[in-house]
Amino acid sequence: MINRRKFIHASVFTSLAGLTNKRLPAIQDRQAVKGNPIVISTWDAGLEANKGAWEVLSKNGTALDAVEKGVMVTESSKNCCVGLGANPDRDGFVTLDSCIMDHQFNCGSVAFLERIKHPVSVARRVMEKTPHVMLVGIGAQQFAVAEGFPLEEQKLSEDAQRAYDNWLKKSEYHPPAVNVENKQGHGPFAPAKLDNGEWNHDTIGMVAMDAMGNLSGSCTTSGAGFKMRGRVGDSPIIGAGLFVDNEVGACTATGQGEDVIRVAGSHSVVELMRQGLFPEAACKKIVERIVKIKGEKAKDIQVAFLAVNKKGQVGAYAIHPGFEYAIKTNEMEKLVKAKSWLNT
Ligand code: GLY
Repeated sequence: MINRRKFIHASVFTSLAGLTNKRLPAIQDRQAVKGNPIVISTWDAGLEANKGAWEVLSKNGTALDAVEKGVMVTESSKNCCVGLGANPDRDGFVTLDSCIMDHQFNCGSVAFLERIKHPVSVARRVMEKTPHVMLVGIGAQQFAVAEGFPLEEQKLSEDAQRAYDNWLKKSEYHPPAVNVENKQGHGPFAPAKLDNGEWNHDTIGMVAMDAMGNLSGSCTTSGAGFKMRGRVGDSPIIGAGLFVDNEVGACTATGQGEDVIRVAGSHSVVELMRQGLFPEAACKKIVERIVKIKGEKAKDIQVAFLAVNKKGQVGAYAIHPGFEYAIKTNEMEKLVKAKSWLNT
């Protein structure tokens, strides 16, 4: 049961901690801004993705180029939840969602995209070459092909085929909130347990500040494993899976997309930072909002937010323990465990 007293206590604490300079984690003390770039991204896959972004940032490249190159690393890697090697929908097709946003409110997005290796790059092309923000399905694929992106073979990876065959034994479709067997409470979006016992990510969201002090972000995923055909989550939705306001900060989300969308999650976090909350406090407030909306069902889902403000201060917060994010700056490169609503 979600503990109501804990909820009220935490809300009060969040308000106080968020509005004062007391008890800030070390990462929030960082003063970055010009000449001191930073990249952060969700889950342990973020370590490799950040290296890709750093190749751009360390050469005084733009945050926009960095967040595209960074998540392309994950889109190319073998994993359950991002890129063409990921788990399929319940009809056996891998469908991808992605978006990108720069420091001037330019943004692009693709959803329900099939057979294209780098949806984030197609999202960027939507942003730069069309009058639109979002293209979906066959239209997005046609646009990608017209732009020269190769149409890849429609074939599941070995891991995805195995996972799909296993799922087909029961073919049970649970709404994403329900996955009682998953003790980590993440729901079927994964983070999935790998053969080596480690937990994999479900989405990569990345935000970066370049040496000029400009912010950009990207987010890319295959969405929920064995989802209904046509289902789209938060990751390609500007304001839900990602939001960037160069005057204030940037935020990205991971976890159950439906519950991120209903609170306009990333945009809401940025708006709280605009009001003066530090990134962790802002992420926590929106996690609390989701917990309040979901009530008892909150324990069955995972949602996490990861944010950076204009000073380069970083924070994150999740419903469940286990969410971690990768950070890279001139001074450090590491994984950080986020605080969480449950079991803290
Ligand atoms: N956050 C990924 C999804 O819900 O699709």
